[in-house]
Amino acid sequence: MVSFIVMAKRGKLCAFLLLVLLGGGLLQGCDPVTRHKVLTTIFDGVPSQVPPEKILEDYYQQRRAAEAAQQAAAASSDGKEGISGSRHRPYAEKKCQACHDFTSRVGLVRPRLELCIMCHRDFVVKDKSLNVHGPVAVGDCSACHLPHTSPHKALLERNETEICGKCHQERRQAARMHDRVIDRGMTCVDCHDPHYGAARYFLK
Ligand code: HEC
Ligand code: HEC
Ligand code: HEC
Ligand code: HEC
Ligand code: HEC
Repeated sequence: MVSFIVMAKRGKLCAFLLLVLLGGGLLQGCDPVTRHKVLTTIFDGVPSQVPPEKILEDYYQQRRAAEAAQQAAAASSDGKEGISGSRHRPYAEKKCQACHDFTSRVGLVRPRLELCIMCHRDFVVKDKSLNVHGPVAVGDCSACHLPHTSPHKALLERNETEICGKCHQERRQAARMHDRVIDRGMTCVDCHDPHYGAARYFLK
């Protein structure tokens, strides 16, 4: 009986130690933003345990690697596709009637807010546990995307550094962290998914 209690206690201790080790280990493996999310409170002003310098340093490392990979890909594809700029596939394939009814006064087969989700079904988020970005929740894809072609990637109406500022001019609650990472060249979508996500504020 006594030995049973001792064993039970030891079991608990082990589980606790395992948790601490695993937790620590897992966090170590996380990217800086995830660590930041786990480690900071929601209040700006409480010193962040992951300093913005560290976030930036990791970010620049990742970006240099991504740029090198992109250059290698461009070199091997003989410049068939430009790195910037994009064309919508149904437009490029001249499937105009998938979206247009040129005989009607409106000119579109569906109202504007229902047009894009006709094909992009995975942007209709039914899972209530996910956080959905305001314009995406109402089907307003055109708030950020153009329907035919764009000089920017992913049919964006403005480039990735400018698109969010089209609406978000308000002061950030986490202003100190945001000012510093933005001043040093990170873009909003490096950390936030523009559409939806499981994490609060659709953090990646
Ligand atoms: C994915 C859907 C989609 C496809 C495919 C598409 N369009 Fe459009 N098109 C739109 C939307 C959305 C608008 C903007 C309508 C508005 O603002 O009222 C538009 C606008 C237009 C306009 C009005 C002028 C302009 O450029 O804003 C013309 C003309 C047009 N499209 C022609 C075409 C032709 C020709 C094709 C095929 C080669 C095509 N579209 C394919 C969605 C599409
Ligand atoms: C007729 C079906 C159809 C409709 C309607 C449609 N799309 Fe698409 N869209 C596609 C296809 C097909 C692709 C290419 C997907 C792929 O490459 O995996 C695509 C790709 C995209 C991409 C990615 C482009 C890139 O270069 O990364 C964006 C952004 C997009 N669509 C936005 C829209 C918006 C905004 C609307 C509404 C104005 C819309 N789509 C309506 C079929 C459609
Ligand atoms: C608030 C701006 C915004 C709105 C609204 C928005 N998008 Fe996007 N979308 C973006 C940005 C920014 C990217 C590029 C993301 C990146 O490169 O990380 C993107 C990328 C995409 C892509 C290509 C990559 C991917 O994530 O699959 C598709 C497809 C797409 N959007 C479809 C849609 C559709 C459909 C809607 C409407 C339901 C929509 N978007 C609404 C900003 C937006
Ligand atoms: C067309 C206007 C528009 C654009 C462009 C836009 N947003 Fe938003 N965003 C909104 C609206 C509306 C809300 C909902 C505000 C609310 O619920 O209080 C929102 C909410 C958010 C939230 C959640 C804020 C909260 O307190 O819950 C985040 C994070 C966010 N946007 C990030 C972005 C990012 C990143 C981009 C660029 C990819 C972007 N937004 C572009 C309109 C926009
Ligand atoms: C380095 C990663 C990072 C970048 C880059 C970033 N954010 Fe954030 N953002 C966060 C984190 C982390 C939070 C959550 C802060 C918290 O919990 O208080 C957040 C919170 C937010 C919120 C909701 C709460 C608040 O502070 O207002 C909005 C809206 C937002 N971000 C928009 C943006 C926009 C717009 C951009 C681009 C100008 C951007 N973010 C760039 C990491 C980032």
